[in-house]
Amino acid sequence: MSASNPLVRVEPLAAQFAAAAHDWALRLGLPQELDGAEFALQIGEGGLQLLMLEAQAPGPVRVDFVEGAAAHRRQFGGGSGQMIAKAVGIQPGVRPRVLDATAGLGRDAFVLATLGCEVSLIERQPLIAALLEDGLSRAAVDAEVGAIAARMTLLRGNAIELMKQWQGEAPQVIYLDPMFPHRDKSALVKKEMRLFRPFVGDDMDAPALLAAALELASHRVVVKRPRKAPAIEGAKPGYSLDGKSSRYDIYPKKKLQG
Ligand SMILES: C[S@@+](CC[C@H](N)C(=O)[O-])C[C@H]1O[C@@H](n2cnc3c(N)ncnc32)[C@H](O)[C@@H]1O
Repeated sequence: MSASNPLVRVEPLAAQFAAAAHDWALRLGLPQELDGAEFALQIGEGGLQLLMLEAQAPGPVRVDFVEGAAAHRRQFGGGSGQMIAKAVGIQPGVRPRVLDATAGLGRDAFVLATLGCEVSLIERQPLIAALLEDGLSRAAVDAEVGAIAARMTLLRGNAIELMKQWQGEAPQVIYLDPMFPHRDKSALVKKEMRLFRPFVGDDMDAPALLAAALELASHRVVVKRPRKAPAIEGAKPGYSLDGKSSRYDIYPKKKLQG
């Protein structure tokens, strides 16, 4: 399935957010009044959130690095023993510079930044990038997670192009998690998939993304896949790490050293 162009309107949740709603509408080129809108991008006390406007739709989605699931994983998620940490090559004394070229809501990038990696994030879907920017700016002013957010830099645009034009030092590790048709079915992921699939589609250009990443990364490329999914078409992974619902395909280029 490819991305469609859903109808979205921007709305404040209270009068004091009217100016912020106006600014987001301008920045994203979205209307504030729209009959038949399928989604609302709402601005309120908790920041920016995306809501599906349909009976029995799941609740709104926002990026929250301070509380909820991200905070829980930060405190109890297993630290550098987590599979994603092993996949990107975190070891004692080694915290690679990572480019997460498919940022989405930034959860994986936040885990890596929590573990001490400097992470650049690329997101091409403007609405998802907006949610991420908003979550990062709230995290930046939090006493506990501010230092983690400071290790995360958001870039917007198509990662294939941005990687081809990359200036300066190459990222040591490039992390990819493109949309895949049959992803894990946890309630949280299902809710977000229902909301985001109309905007994002299935990332059919993943083979070009992998090729550009392999060209740029100095040390390795890591691709997250649903456990049973085939590898991305193109170069074959050197090895894989299997998790409960995900698999990490590793494309090594050079040994990471402390
Ligand atoms: C499955 S989500 C990533 C979820 C993310 N790992 C997380 O932890 O929240 C895939 C995201 O990658 C983005 N994406 C896919 N291909 C891209 C590309 N070539 N350039 C930039 N973003 C891309 C999609 O818009 C989507 O938001």
